[in-house]
Amino acid sequence: MRILAIESSCDETAAAVLDGAELRANVVVSQIDMFKAYGGVIPEVAARSHLEAILPVIDKALLDAGLKTAEGKNDWEKIDAVAVTHTPGLLGSLLIGTLTARTLAILHEKPLYAVHHLKSHIYANWIGVSEAEAPEFPLVALVVSGGHTQIIYMPNHNQFEIIGTTLDDAVGECFDKVAKILGLPYPGGPAIAKAAEKGDAEKYKLPHPQIEGLDFSFSGLKTAVLRAVQKEVGVGIDFPSHELRERLNTQQVADVAASFQKTAVEILMEKVRKAVRERGEVKSVVLAGGVSANQALREAAKELEREGVRIYVPEKQYAGDNAAMVAEAARFEIQAGVEPTDPRKLNISPRSVIY
Ligand SMILES: Nc1ncnc2c1ncn2[C@@H]1O[C@H](COP(=O)(O)OP(=O)(O)OP(=O)(O)O)[C@@H](O)[C@H]1O
Ligand SMILES: [Mg+2]
Repeated sequence: MRILAIESSCDETAAAVLDGAELRANVVVSQIDMFKAYGGVIPEVAARSHLEAILPVIDKALLDAGLKTAEGKNDWEKIDAVAVTHTPGLLGSLLIGTLTARTLAILHEKPLYAVHHLKSHIYANWIGVSEAEAPEFPLVALVVSGGHTQIIYMPNHNQFEIIGTTLDDAVGECFDKVAKILGLPYPGGPAIAKAAEKGDAEKYKLPHPQIEGLDFSFSGLKTAVLRAVQKEVGVGIDFPSHELRERLNTQQVADVAASFQKTAVEILMEKVRKAVRERGEVKSVVLAGGVSANQALREAAKELEREGVRIYVPEKQYAGDNAAMVAEAARFEIQAGVEPTDPRKLNISPRSVIY
């Protein structure tokens, strides 16, 4: 079974080819460099960039996978199914990927699998992993990305129960906003992690939200960082946040980054530990989403192994948005006998829901 997968939910245009369990091509064109200048994604610009990139990206994936005819044309005979991210994401961005996938499925008479984006992030943990080494069920997945922070319980493949979610900001968004306060570049996550390497994580005491159950809140942490920085440079709470960076030296930036990162990781891991204890019999904890590339989070998660669970993290190249994870999620849908979607009827919705 060969699957061509397409991803365009935010600011990466991506296509991948999965042949059985073997990843044959994985092409990602990121718009990050363009959005660095703006400090964030502009949805209309992202959609237009997807439109320019999507066909060349698919062509390149088919070329890399060796799926061209002798005349150099795409060999659609050798593709068995098309998979695409259908939600959640930016509406204009999703439209480009889904319209392309629907058109290809209709034109070449292939079954179409519309895959939920968060499910794909979770299935990044299966890419290139043998059956014996793959995460065992039941598992708890921590999905930490630019738009989501969720704890998802999976008793088996394709079964999802959201048991915790953020009540306000996503943790990735919080990394990005704190980076802005500190004058670090977009995306904030990698920049904060780098700055934190030289910082004192104990310098600033930042609060943990007092939320019952398994839900999260990150807007308070962002404000706490802002107040700590304002206090550090000796200005009031009405001082414009975009002017703070000029008053901070490199060591202060590193210390705030380290203290923030430590607190964010602690908040995430407290809830994951609680979820594992409450559910009982959890065999694996799986990290997923862009923030799962964070080394401090990976190391903190490893400590959970003392509780008798195995920890899985995606390869760093598969933590952020890509199409290999979409193909992998589709592979397990096909294996489970999930019906394909009628390409003429696929509706997209930016709602954040998981099956
Ligand atoms: N090393 C890192 N440490 C912390 N955060 C990181 C790191 N690398 C990336 N991130 C964060 O990951 C986020 C991007 O992840 P991803 O691409 O999965 O999100 P998204 O696709 O925009 O959102 P969603 O998946 O919820 O739709 C950004 O907020 C970025 O700052
Ligand atoms: Mg994503």
